Amino acid sequence: MERDGATQSLWQREEINYTEVNFVHNSKDIFDVIIIGAGITGLTTALCLQAAGKRCMVLEAHKVGFGTTSGTTAHLNTVLDNSYSKIIKNFGLENAIRTAEAADLAIQSIESFIAQYGIACNFTRCAAYLYATEEKEAKELQNMQEAFHQVGINSSYVHHIPGPMKFKKAVCVSGQARFHPTQYIKGLLKAYLELGGKIREKYLVKKVQEEDSFQRVLSADDGVYDAKHIVYATHTPPGIHPLTFKLTPYRSYVIAVELTNRKSYPNDLIYDLKEPFHYIRKAKDGESPVLIIGGEDHKTAHEINTVHNFQKLESFVRQHYSVQRKLYEWSSQFYESADGLPYIGYLSEKKNKFVATGFSGNGMIYGTLSGKIISDIIIKGKSKYQNLFSPSRVKPIAEFQSFVKESADVIKHFVSDRLSVDKLKNTVEIGKGEGRIVKYEGKKIAIYRDKEGELFALNPVCRHAGCIVQWNHAERSWDCPCHGTRYAIDGSLLNGPASTDLPSLKLE
Ligand code: FES
Repeated sequence: MERDGATQSLWQREEINYTEVNFVHNSKDIFDVIIIGAGITGLTTALCLQAAGKRCMVLEAHKVGFGTTSGTTAHLNTVLDNSYSKIIKNFGLENAIRTAEAADLAIQSIESFIAQYGIACNFTRCAAYLYATEEKEAKELQNMQEAFHQVGINSSYVHHIPGPMKFKKAVCVSGQARFHPTQYIKGLLKAYLELGGKIREKYLVKKVQEEDSFQRVLSADDGVYDAKHIVYATHTPPGIHPLTFKLTPYRSYVIAVELTNRKSYPNDLIYDLKEPFHYIRKAKDGESPVLIIGGEDHKTAHEINTVHNFQKLESFVRQHYSVQRKLYEWSSQFYESADGLPYIGYLSEKKNKFVATGFSGNGMIYGTLSGKIISDIIIKGKSKYQNLFSPSRVKPIAEFQSFVKESADVIKHFVSDRLSVDKLKNTVEIGKGEGRIVKYEGKKIAIYRDKEGELFALNPVCRHAGCIVQWNHAERSWDCPCHGTRYAIDGSLLNGPASTDLPSLKLE
């Protein structure tokens, strides 16, 4: 299956094809709900709604699972990336207890979808171990353990962890799980289609237009769809929105290795307390076990040599395990909210648009929870978790309107030009397979030289709000440091919040 990068994740071996019996090219109907994005968030939402009798359409710009769902490591944990002490500080103890309860509900929901729809995805209940190797980390772990107790998470200090790492202090948390994410969403999709749900892939939404009693979704040239409600299951909502300023895009790195000793694979989830931390689990590659290690996170487009992050991960795993060979390496994007909890619920004052974003590294948990919350609001008019995760806690900042205008001007004023290849070759030294932002006659351009030596030039001004994109060497993509839009080598859009491609510059 396809994914939004040049590297291959372990989960991409799964082919997600479906018979297009439900395919509708250009419906004149008004759907109850259009869900934009076919990852775990979009498909969980769609299935919950369709199962409750709503008529749904899923619109996906690329293919099912193209985004972060096929790049996750699929830890299903209530431990969460943002510590409960931070959540208690920002939201109070009662809300932190509710957050822990919601995370547990997400795992239970996944388990019950699997049972109800017969989804084979290697779902395994397990524990999570957190370990500290230094005094500073041991103090942090002690704070975490106290906060676990305060919010009702079942955890205790232990003298043993299921890995060879030496540690000063360790905690075991029960009630966690792991699974195969693309097998899981394949099962969600199958169940959704069997219930009469509709889906279209390769449909990039360009605009959502408010009509009197419904909303009209338009692509560039490929038909329109109407619905009473719209759900953006696209991480950041497209365009410039107050939420745009409260989300920070990050990249995380993963490698999967075969170990020399089959007994060394841990059954449980393991986390250290480094900054950024490492996360470890086992999985299956076909019938063979593999060890997956993630970490080395950084803000999107804030590191030049992204290949180095894989090397650091490999050296970490070789330091602790006897590795037979490396099998996979991939990276993926996630979004941090400003205050430690995701934004799930109404996008605007108007009560017919929804958003689900800011999941941190807990996309499987919050994506599932988003499906439950948004479908409850649409079906029953409310959700128990509606206020806790409400996006309306983000207020528009004063500079918002001028930012929108200035961004439009930046994009408008960049005049694309024709470039002389000879002149470019004289001014720019760039190796095969490399990309770089260079200055050409006073203007910045994005240049990539392919393996055959051919040059490709793009206007590097991000189509979202005018920042300059940066080269991501590992994924062969142009990534925006401001809000995380990513573009392929040819400028085509990989993920928003922009909704158009980077213009290519003609080389003559
Ligand atoms: Fe906002 Fe590029 S993603 S300016």
